[in-house]
Amino acid sequence: MKTTAILLAGGQGTRMKSPLPKVLHPVGGKPMIARIIESCKQAEISEVRVVVGHGQNLVKTVLEPLSAPTYLQANQLGTADAVKSADLGTLEGEVIIMNGDHPLIQPADIRHFISDFREQKLDLAVVTVELPDPGSFGRIVRKDNRLVSIVEAKDASAETLKIKEINTGIYVVKAEVLHKYIPQIQNNNSKKEYYLTDLIDLSLKNNLKVQALLSKNTDVAHGVNTQVELAAATQKVFKRHVTSLMEAGVIFISPETSYIEEGVLIGAGSVIYPNVFMRGKTVVGAFSVVESNSFISDSVIGESVQIKAGSYIEQTIIKNKASVGPYARLRPETTIGDSAHVGNFVEMKKVSFGNKSKAGHLTYLGDAEIGEEVNIGCGTITCNYAADKKKYKTTIGDRVFVGSDTQFIAPVTVESDSIIASGTTVTKTVPSGALALSRTPQVNKEGYAKKFLKPVTNKSES
Ligand code: UD1
Ligand code: CA
Repeated sequence: MKTTAILLAGGQGTRMKSPLPKVLHPVGGKPMIARIIESCKQAEISEVRVVVGHGQNLVKTVLEPLSAPTYLQANQLGTADAVKSADLGTLEGEVIIMNGDHPLIQPADIRHFISDFREQKLDLAVVTVELPDPGSFGRIVRKDNRLVSIVEAKDASAETLKIKEINTGIYVVKAEVLHKYIPQIQNNNSKKEYYLTDLIDLSLKNNLKVQALLSKNTDVAHGVNTQVELAAATQKVFKRHVTSLMEAGVIFISPETSYIEEGVLIGAGSVIYPNVFMRGKTVVGAFSVVESNSFISDSVIGESVQIKAGSYIEQTIIKNKASVGPYARLRPETTIGDSAHVGNFVEMKKVSFGNKSKAGHLTYLGDAEIGEEVNIGCGTITCNYAADKKKYKTTIGDRVFVGSDTQFIAPVTVESDSIIASGTTVTKTVPSGALALSRTPQVNKEGYAKKFLKPVTNKSES
């Protein structure tokens, strides 16, 4: 049986008070419409059609790489009109319709709704949940426990508004039902809109098998209409992932302040301090520690690694037992070797930093290949960017000792087992085993200090 999803994403989202089309607002780092498309694909839905309207060009641009074709709803005349815009004539089999602003729907929910629809051999199903505070949701009216109709909050009587069971906006329906009854829906209601909910009444009148499927998972009804609801959805997404990581043995000191995107994997026994942000395709091995205020994006961190407070790490590989920070900045294409140490205020970009090497303090290394057991003294700089606006490489062998305040004028090579004296400007190859130094010999002028130091006469301040 072929299943197609129709996602309604044409509305303006006025209450978001934002220039961005509503469905492009990110939840947990991903546009909400992209989340629903991914859930559909993971639930093995063969085709996803997205109805667009407001901000259609921007929405199309975002959806292009997700191979979800868009269908234009020229005027936003209501949810039934939106469904009508999805080229109904070419639909067959069964169809699941969802709102583009319900970002917490999971693949398991979708599978569940479809299998209930099949098992009960229905023509039309609407997914409902019970909410303590049903607000502006459409109310599910039942008689003798059987679904009778859906009444929009705006059109409901005070009595109907008391109903706690609401319409989630998720429907499973046979394509032929859409073909036949969508064109019959009228707009005689307070908003003068074509309501998709009227499909229930029409189907019941025509003796079709219609059922309200009450779901226990109220997250499927989490609609985003305001910035507050958007932030709440993001909180739920992070919480869900952090909870699953804790269930797998990751230790969170303050789970409510840890922002770990769903794609991030962390090994058991690792400890995550408060206020850590991890995103993209980041992986952390077992028994590692990530301290507060660290930001880690698209990086692979090994086992027993220590990331100390305030470190900013992007597209970097950090091997087992290495330690980084506090306040280190590791930029793309950097690899930190096994048991290596990168200390405070060290910046690296496009560096291969060998096993057991150390750069403890205040250093910039860029476009460099650094061997094993190298010691980089405080204040070392690779001068990789030249006046010709090109980048040049520094290559350092194994077991090199680089004294403090050294500059490497790239391109330059330092061979293994050599020593660079403190304060040296390295401009040419240092052969293996050599000591390189470029200091001006020190001159001491006896008694000169007196000539420059004035006696202190001001009594009030100095
Ligand atoms: C709709 C339901 C309501 C349900 C609620 C669940 C109707 C009449 N009401 O109300 O019963 O409880 O969803 O969230 O269906 N859209 C279009 N084109 C339009 C109008 C809307 O594409 O012309 C899209 C919107 O972008 C949105 C979705 O359809 O993603 C729902 O529209 P919205 O106006 O938010 O419907 P609700 O009033 O929330
Ligand atoms: Ca809505």
